[in-house]
Amino acid sequence: MTIPMLSATSLQRVLPSGRTKPCVFFCENKSGESNIEYVVKLKAGMENGVNGLAAELIASQLALVLDIPTPEPAIIELDPLIAEVIPDPDLSQKIKESAGLNFGSRVITGGFETWPVGKAIPSSLRTLAAEIFAFDALIQNPDRKVNKPNILWKGDELYIIDHEMSLMFIYEIMPMPNPWQITDLRFIKDHLFYGNLKGQTANLDRFAGALELLTDNVIETILTDVPEDWRSDNISKITTHINEIVHHSNDFVDEIRRALQ
Ligand SMILES: Nc1ncnc2c1ncn2[C@@H]1O[C@H](COP(=O)(O)OP(=O)(O)O)[C@@H](O)[C@H]1O
Ligand SMILES: [Mg+2]
Repeated sequence: MTIPMLSATSLQRVLPSGRTKPCVFFCENKSGESNIEYVVKLKAGMENGVNGLAAELIASQLALVLDIPTPEPAIIELDPLIAEVIPDPDLSQKIKESAGLNFGSRVITGGFETWPVGKAIPSSLRTLAAEIFAFDALIQNPDRKVNKPNILWKGDELYIIDHEMSLMFIYEIMPMPNPWQITDLRFIKDHLFYGNLKGQTANLDRFAGALELLTDNVIETILTDVPEDWRSDNISKITTHINEIVHHSNDFVDEIRRALQ
């Protein structure tokens, strides 16, 4: 996939929810089309700096390959001059410090809301919920929980968002010689969908098949799209992690099924 690269031209609004307070900017693309709205996660707002931006970009591309709905990602260039006309001094400072490349996602419109706390999974979304649980285990994302769903939902549709905390394995907090073995990942028990899926039969057949789409070439292309400023030697850890899981996809999916038994 070619990641669109746009320039932010004006600040539209600051989103009321979320720790990092992402901003909606009007952006202009390379063909000169303007006023395209993107949610921009600012570099200076990221707990893990550029690793957070890289995680957002990589995870959203993996999701799209696996056909798990997520807003289209983009790379948004911010001119620090924009900060000069922002009255709020904190926001102005944050924008100034975020000069350069930031992560953007196409604004989801049309009445989507945050997945409500305590909402049961409707039967139409059960398979997708199980796939999202498996996806978060794949990318080691501990940040989709009951009180922090990071899902935009409407009826039978949803989009997963906010992957800045994913790819936890790059920090090597705990050695995981076999990345497809997920039983030791404590966070999966706090996952938004764990309680609801546990004890139910999860259909992961489509997901297991889709993992085959993550060929070495596809993974390499996804990682090549990460801008130079956001790269580090973590890239090779990410390649290894995803490759290992894809090469043991049956074992991985069995582990997910076991975790949900
Ligand atoms: N692409 C998008 N379209 C619409 N709303 C979005 C989009 N991305 C984020 N949001 C809104 O912004 C909030 C914060 O975004 P999120 O990525 O979760 O940031 P944080 O890391 O601060 O939690 C979300 O809860 C959602 O309401
Ligand atoms: Mg969030």
